[in-house]
Amino acid sequence: MESGQDTPDNGAPTKGSATGHSEIDVLLHTEQTFPPPPGFAAQANASDPEIYDQAASDPEAFWSEWARKLEWIEPFQQVLDWSNPPFARWFADGKLNASVNCLDRHVEGGLGERVAFHWEGEGDEKRAVTYDELLDLTQRFGNVLRSHGIGKGDVVGIYLPMLPETVASILACARIGAIHNVVFGGFSPESVKDRMAFSEAKALVTADATLRRGNAIPMKDALEDVMGEMPTVERVFVVDRCGTGPGMTEGRDFSWQDEVAGAEPTCEPEVMDAEDPLFILYTSGSTGKPKGILHTTGGYLTGATATHELVFDLKPESDVYWCAADIGWITGHTYIVYGPLANGATSVMYEGAPDYPTPARWWEIIERYEVTTLYTAPTAIRAFMKWGSEYPEGSDLSSLRLLGSVGEPINPRAWLWYHRVIGGERCPIVDTWWQTETGSIMITPLPGLTTTKPGSATVPFPGVQAKILDDEGVEISEGAGYLVLTHPWPSMTRGIYRDDERFVETYWSRYDSQTYAVGDAARIDEDGYFWVIGRIDDVINVSGHRLSTMEIESAIVSHEGIAEAAVVGIPDEMTGQAIVAFAICESGTESDAMEDVLRDHVAEKIGKLARPKRIVLAEDLPKTRSGKIMRRLLRDIAEGRDLGDVTTLRDPGVVDTLRRAFDGDAPR
Ligand code: WT7
Repeated sequence: MESGQDTPDNGAPTKGSATGHSEIDVLLHTEQTFPPPPGFAAQANASDPEIYDQAASDPEAFWSEWARKLEWIEPFQQVLDWSNPPFARWFADGKLNASVNCLDRHVEGGLGERVAFHWEGEGDEKRAVTYDELLDLTQRFGNVLRSHGIGKGDVVGIYLPMLPETVASILACARIGAIHNVVFGGFSPESVKDRMAFSEAKALVTADATLRRGNAIPMKDALEDVMGEMPTVERVFVVDRCGTGPGMTEGRDFSWQDEVAGAEPTCEPEVMDAEDPLFILYTSGSTGKPKGILHTTGGYLTGATATHELVFDLKPESDVYWCAADIGWITGHTYIVYGPLANGATSVMYEGAPDYPTPARWWEIIERYEVTTLYTAPTAIRAFMKWGSEYPEGSDLSSLRLLGSVGEPINPRAWLWYHRVIGGERCPIVDTWWQTETGSIMITPLPGLTTTKPGSATVPFPGVQAKILDDEGVEISEGAGYLVLTHPWPSMTRGIYRDDERFVETYWSRYDSQTYAVGDAARIDEDGYFWVIGRIDDVINVSGHRLSTMEIESAIVSHEGIAEAAVVGIPDEMTGQAIVAFAICESGTESDAMEDVLRDHVAEKIGKLARPKRIVLAEDLPKTRSGKIMRRLLRDIAEGRDLGDVTTLRDPGVVDTLRRAFDGDAPR
């Protein structure tokens, strides 16, 4: 793959101006539309188009009907309290426990033997974990936490691979009212440390190691270097995944399995207010410091269950549902853990890489468990396209009935391949737009109702109100602008953990205090369909993962010998966007090996996912006379575009030197 290449089917847009972007036209290149297949529509959970008007005329009534399907310890009387925007309260006088909704109520309803997860390890290990077993693990680990003095309101970090124990650890927190703070296993120990320190976590759950392509990659031992910088973490629970026997500090570190085996089997659930915190999940913002996105209990579960049942047309008795995201992202929280379990679904969970041992792995899994519903990201779809149709064609995929996409705009070519090769032209595709902050899906087709257009996430979910605004806040009825959400919804974030000011400033100040500015540019077409273009802030979306340019810049600059760095995102055929960094070495530190050294350094600071695709070492960066770096020019260089006006630069010659440096390096 060439860097900066601009192929016609590269649907991944750059961030930048919301209007007049050529990528929009690329996204629109197919005129084909796809009405719901009649057989699908006839059996769909949402089959009456009235649902949209009904929800729009009284969103509170619509959401409370969904909330009432949950099991409440004390039913709610109040629905929405929006008297202090942007701080919404939903169902605030109700009391419930999320783990009871996900587990006990199914077991009590006689479904204890239903499989919650068909788990597959990266090798040939397989485990069918029933609701009974998951409830048992959850209660026991809940008791373990309590016996170590962890309780309601305490923060517990979770840094684990994709294991049933990961789900049990999450639900054990929910059971005792502790606030889980999951960190994606691909992040570095350094990132874990920051997230634990910011949230003052009291305990951390991790594993000895994680399996990647047959190798055990240490997790616990890798954390050892940063343990000293997490003074609030009093206990570390270590899941034995690979049998590597990591170092254990007496009195601080405990074996997850041993503790669970010795724990009491029943654990009284904590009675939680609907507005009590359920979890925080850190996500990158436009500054160097990640934001702890806070979600509460009742509203979040309401959004998760409603969207999971309607968007994925869930039939819990017959479906085998597979969300192939990692639990460490919001997609995993909402659509592997809370939505599917609260709805009593049977899911697949796979630990390993999609091409291990061969690119046929996913398709063999689908055949083995007769998966009906697959939810994944455009970047995965494009990788499978590249590896070749022969892999999916080698498996029987006829059990599939519905496909989903999330994380970034899906380019029509990938959409059409997904539809034809994976979906056998019979499965509707739901392209779902949402965010860590929205908690659940916001813009999406309902698969039995909505005619889809490849590349468009289509229309807001019932009860959700979205608009496109121009710079002045005037609504655009057809055309491109800034995407906003204009009415509160139950699963909306309640804030940035312990930083109300940043919350208000980041999301609720662009227009007014009741308009949530999502940070994406989008276009609305003549049918009212939304086409998300991409981020408008300093956030790069690599393979559906959000990374802040500033975070990467500070990681690079933290390497000795680097004076300054600037990072931009460019379109990439495979990952949506790719990271390109320009770095200035202090004199005497330049060397050929520097690019690799810096790439490793970024992996160490943030995680492998943040490694730049290119690092161009330069003598200077294009700056205005006031010293501001002109990133627009860096993007032009990285994408091979004409530079236009450079006269405002302090030293216009810089860009030619940079361009030569960029073109001279072989892309990797
Ligand atoms: C950002 C949120 C929510 C799940 C995973 C990402 C982009 C997400 C789509 C989509 C176009 C999408 C947006 C959004 N995004 N889904 N279907 N079409 N763009 O969660 O890390 O919170 O990132 O991902 O830019 O703002 P996240």
